Amino acid sequence: MKSFFHVSDIGDLGAALEEARQVKATPYAWKSLGENKTIMLVFFNSSLRTRLSSQKAALNLGMSPIVLNIGQDSWKLETEMGVVMDGDKSEHLREAIPVMASYCDIIGVRSFAGLKDREYDYSETVLNQFIQYSGKPVISLESATVHPCQAFADLITIEEYKRKTRPKVVMTWAPHPRALPQAVPNSFAEWMNAADVDFVITHPRGYELDPRFVGDAKVEYDQMKALEGADFVYAKNWSCPGVCGPYGEILSKDMSWTVDAAHMAVTDNAFFMHCLPVRRNMIVSDEVIDAPTSLVIPEAANRAVSAQVVMKRMLESL
Ligand code: CP
Repeated sequence: MKSFFHVSDIGDLGAALEEARQVKATPYAWKSLGENKTIMLVFFNSSLRTRLSSQKAALNLGMSPIVLNIGQDSWKLETEMGVVMDGDKSEHLREAIPVMASYCDIIGVRSFAGLKDREYDYSETVLNQFIQYSGKPVISLESATVHPCQAFADLITIEEYKRKTRPKVVMTWAPHPRALPQAVPNSFAEWMNAADVDFVITHPRGYELDPRFVGDAKVEYDQMKALEGADFVYAKNWSCPGVCGPYGEILSKDMSWTVDAAHMAVTDNAFFMHCLPVRRNMIVSDEVIDAPTSLVIPEAANRAVSAQVVMKRMLESL
């Protein structure tokens, strides 16, 4: 595996899920695979789960992780080409990437969408520079438009907890005080469309995701109707994707979309999921996230599993 951004990069989903099951059961079985290998984890933005689960996955494989926080541990980096560097950014990605690549075998990059320029974000400008100038396998640790390690962990979790062969999975928009990227809902939609689930997306009008990620998923604007009979409720906020409204803007803070007990009551005793971090009583009520049907902790734990499968495959193809 040379890169990990889209569901297509993982190949057969059944095989990937079986590999995830094996990795979870025997995480140290491939300890010699990463011997004398280094992974560089580059963070342009904050993280709890991605940072820790990626390090844990690397250590399980016997690989040495190096974490670099851009702008804190390093110089501030310029990401745009052709600019006069007379501001506070001391180094350009064009030099920094090959230098970082010279110290490692695999690179993981977290680089959020700026939410100002849709074309810049949706062409994955920063991530593509890592691919172009590193010559190393690159993992998106949440880039401008995708968060594949999260979506793979979400699918592993659904597979572990499903009570039906083909469960109904509903991804619902929920309110948030700040404008958030679309990477998590984009990837979740992409992965659910590839999985054997009945997938429904619900959000207020204006929040339509990019058609490349929505695919053939059913979009239902009536949240309660969408949630009827659901087996899994996946809550997430996202800002306007710029398909039917102004890119990156908050169009609604309608608290009637907060997932609470009344929403869960119309489901088929659904499990609640969220990628975390989550704003309690904005995205989800305390009673729902604290209920025994909340999967947020096992879902986060599976981030180490999804990361280990991806790193294992990259090490095997070096
Ligand atoms: N879900 C997720 O990616 O969490 P972090 O932002 O804490 O890494």
